[in-house]
Amino acid sequence: QSTLPKGFILRPLEPSDYEKGLSLSIFRLGFLEVLGQLTVVGNVDKDTFMDQFYYMKNRNNEYFTIVIEDTQRRRVVAAGTVLVERKFVHMIGKVGHIEDIVVNKEYRGQNFGKWIIEQLKHIGKQVGCYKIILDCSEKNVPFYEKCGFTKKEVEMAWYI
Ligand code: ACO
Repeated sequence: QSTLPKGFILRPLEPSDYEKGLSLSIFRLGFLEVLGQLTVVGNVDKDTFMDQFYYMKNRNNEYFTIVIEDTQRRRVVAAGTVLVERKFVHMIGKVGHIEDIVVNKEYRGQNFGKWIIEQLKHIGKQVGCYKIILDCSEKNVPFYEKCGFTKKEVEMAWYI
C-alpha cells in the first residue's frame, strides 16, 4: 500500500492535537488520549502540554513526533516519535530512537502502525542517523520485524 486511505493524513504533532474532536472530554480523542492506550499519561493540563510541545519544537532537529489523523472524525488515530541522539562515536554520528508508538484500538490492523514507523525511519535517515533503534515487549517483536527491525542485544532499566 503506497498511500494512506482516503480521509487520513500523516503530519507532525500540532498544538491543537491536545484537544482534537468534540470538547466534551468523553468524546475527545486527542494525542494524549491515544498515548493513554500505550502507558500512563496522567492528568496533563493544556499549559503543561504546550510547554512541553514548544520545548520540543524549539529542538526540532532532535524531536520528531508525528500523528495520523482521521480528518472526518477529527481524531488522532496513531502517533510516534523519533528522538535524534548526537554521538561522538561513528564520526560524530547520530542515532535515532523510536519511542511511544501507538495506534488507537479501533484502528489497529490497518497498517497505520507500519505507516508511522516507515515515516519515522525516513525522518531518521534524512537527518543522517546511522541506525535507528527501539525497545519493545516480546509480543510486539513480530510487528517490528514486519517493519524491518531485527533483534539485537538486551534492554536494561533502572527505575528511580
Ligand atoms: N503480532 C504479529 N504481527 C503483528 C502484530 C502482532 N502483535 N501487530 C501487527 N502485526 C503485523 C500486522 O499483521 C501487519 O502485517 P502485514 O504487513 O503482513 O499485513 C504488520 O505487522 C503491520 O501491522 P499494523 O496494522 O501496521 O499494526 P497496528 O496499526 O495494529 O499497530 C501497534 C501495531 C503499534 C503495536 C499497535 O498494536 C499498538 O498500538 N499497540 C499498543 C501500544 C504498543 O504496544 N505500542 C508499541 C510500544 S513499543 C515502542 O513504542 C517503541
